[in-house]
Amino acid sequence: MLVSAKDMLNKAREGKYAVGQFNINNLEWTKAILLTAQENNSPVILGVSEGAGKYMGGYKTIVGMVNGMLEELNITVPVALHLDHGSYEGALKCIEAGFSSVMFDGSHYPIEENIAKTTELVKITSEKGLSLEAEVGSIGGEEDGVVGAGEIADANECKTIADLGVTMLAAGIGNIHGQYPENWKGLAFDALERINEATGTTPLVLHGGTGIPEEMIKKAISLGVAKINVNTECQLAFAKATREYVEAGKDLQGKGFDPRKLLAPGVEAIKATVKEKMELFGSINQA
Ligand code: 13P
Repeated sequence: MLVSAKDMLNKAREGKYAVGQFNINNLEWTKAILLTAQENNSPVILGVSEGAGKYMGGYKTIVGMVNGMLEELNITVPVALHLDHGSYEGALKCIEAGFSSVMFDGSHYPIEENIAKTTELVKITSEKGLSLEAEVGSIGGEEDGVVGAGEIADANECKTIADLGVTMLAAGIGNIHGQYPENWKGLAFDALERINEATGTTPLVLHGGTGIPEEMIKKAISLGVAKINVNTECQLAFAKATREYVEAGKDLQGKGFDPRKLLAPGVEAIKATVKEKMELFGSINQA
């Protein structure tokens, strides 16, 4: 059964590790991530962007697929199905479809509007026992058409939003979706420290988990980050493994063109990437 991300993240924050949110794009990715979580006895969050939701045939399709896998693959570790960077309307749709967690990304609204919409969603999600992620200070880069300029979040605004009763808070601290440019200045730990102090025990979320050096990940966890989002790294691993398979001509040998065979190297690459991240985040054996 899908669970809210609340307990797993409070436990992670307290135990000084982080739970990975891995974005899903299709059945193969979903199955690879769930099996890896189970094999490693780790809690996990499946992230779905609005674009991926459309691609996979709608939120209800995804809920059906994930619930089916939990049952038929005997997945017993805690799994949350989470809308990533949702609009207000998208969040309502996911709640109705059966997601156990939603993110409302109001970071591009003036703070008053972000507060008003987040307040509404706190009410709805808490009545239903679902978790809610809010965002202050946009994350840089582009993800599925959502473009962020990459501001550093203001600690007072973070406190205001955290005090509304959200489950977890994403705060921009110089992190960027996609690959980091050569001249990236690194995470703004001074800002993270201020945000952590201002927001009490609210688990913090680090977006743009691809390509952040290991020491920075560990330091961020020590400063209250309890959820780390990874998408691009799985995409790169999947693309590289698929390309190698095709370039070696294996798709043209025997039954190599069978989609199950063609996608298998990519699936293995995702499993390895997810396991590596779970090790780094410290979530293995925390289920
Ligand atoms: P990356 O694509 O940089 O890993 O970021 C993922 C993310 O933050 C999803 O919200």
